[in-house]
Amino acid sequence: MSTTPVPITEAGDIPVTVEAGDVQAIVLRPRPKPYRGEYVILRIGDAGQGREMLRRLLPHIATADEWWLPSLPGWLGIAFTFEGLKALGVPQASLDSFPIEFRQGMAARAEVLHDWGANAPENWEHPFGTTEVHVALAIYARNDQDLGRVLELARQAHAELPQISVVYRMQFGELPEGRNPFGFKDGLHNPPVEGSGPARAGSEAPIKAGEFILGYPDENGETAQAPIPEQLRLNGTFVALRKFHMDVAAFRRYLRAQASSPGEEELIAAKMVGRWRSGAPLTLAPDRDDPQLGSDPSRNNAFSYADDMKGLKCPFSAHIRRVNPRDALRDEVVAVNLHHFLRRGTNYGPPLPEGVLEDDGAERGGVFLLIGHGTEQDPLIGNNDGNGDFTIPQRPVRRRLHGLPRFVTVRGGEYCFIPGLRALRWLANLGSSTA
Ligand code: HEM
Repeated sequence: MSTTPVPITEAGDIPVTVEAGDVQAIVLRPRPKPYRGEYVILRIGDAGQGREMLRRLLPHIATADEWWLPSLPGWLGIAFTFEGLKALGVPQASLDSFPIEFRQGMAARAEVLHDWGANAPENWEHPFGTTEVHVALAIYARNDQDLGRVLELARQAHAELPQISVVYRMQFGELPEGRNPFGFKDGLHNPPVEGSGPARAGSEAPIKAGEFILGYPDENGETAQAPIPEQLRLNGTFVALRKFHMDVAAFRRYLRAQASSPGEEELIAAKMVGRWRSGAPLTLAPDRDDPQLGSDPSRNNAFSYADDMKGLKCPFSAHIRRVNPRDALRDEVVAVNLHHFLRRGTNYGPPLPEGVLEDDGAERGGVFLLIGHGTEQDPLIGNNDGNGDFTIPQRPVRRRLHGLPRFVTVRGGEYCFIPGLRALRWLANLGSSTA
């Protein structure tokens, strides 16, 4: 492997109190940079064969304490839907102890999630939202060659197991400069998790591990007692997977129509997100972009909204302010902490060449892995049908953009459980005398 491994400790790291060797890497660690990868969805037609596949995969699953090792060709992460746990033969008492949202599945919660119209589950890609989705593998690698090596391991894990079928595959990869298809730097912010080890210490207080991982106290000092048994619960977590198609041409046309100059287009785009495309936050660079600030990880998250209570720098409805109000609620810091989740998303599809305003028909967008809670409407990801508004507070008169079109369409989604390593062994041994 040619890439230099990321050091496990550096000045200011958070001490490790979470059992990192038992937590899957995908939960706690950022994706490699640059990254290539693939999601593979499997269906288990026979519990015994499902467990055999799991036994074969187990040695290759990346944990949060060795994610940086140069000997790893890439990371393999594994997660199960409720249907998947059933298909593996998890006992009924355990199944019943899972949260209702997880047992119902994401498609059944379409009303609550505002997944209607073009975003409705009946318009999702097959097999999302059906009972065919059992196991999701996420493979991240630094290049195609390494990706091929891990895919081969995954293929061998179900070789000669005819009841295991691959029902979906999709490749993903980093776009130039680490941008998302709309042209914004992404993956800039994730909350620091208390006791989780390597992370650059910023100005933010770490969030209690129990907000993200089962088996640890949360922000209220409580430790989750479900699902049962404990072997299955410890060091596990839940993830909401959402695949979004992004209509980049529509986004560009909208900006063009609202603005009288390229500079104004950029400002409106920044107001919608809360950051300039370079990643520079509006609260720190309200009037013009500051690409150096955008690419400086020690500064590009060093802000709150406490001195912008009128939203004059960053509108309240800007994407990053809505999904993470930081300390803007002042006396409700604890409540804000409870809204955090970890984002482990990836982008897919080719970039739309600069300046193109007509859709080229290519599939492009992002797959979001959200570990934690939170689904709110905003100008980027809201289910806009052409009637939405977006307000930019400014002096002397605020500006209201009308007729917000749909830039983003849901292509599919699932709730999954990401077990810890011991839990995976417990699942793999179900039905045998050691279970
Ligand atoms: C296609 C859909 C989406 C697009 C285009 C998008 C875009 C972005 C961009 C450009 C940023 C700023 C850079 C960064 O910190 O990574 C960001 C941040 C963020 N997004 Fe999204 N996002 C999308 C969906 C979502 C969803 C579904 C959620 C969860 C509900 C979410 C939650 C967040 C959070 C928590 C941040 C960090 C906020 C902060 O800086 O404090 N995003 N997103």
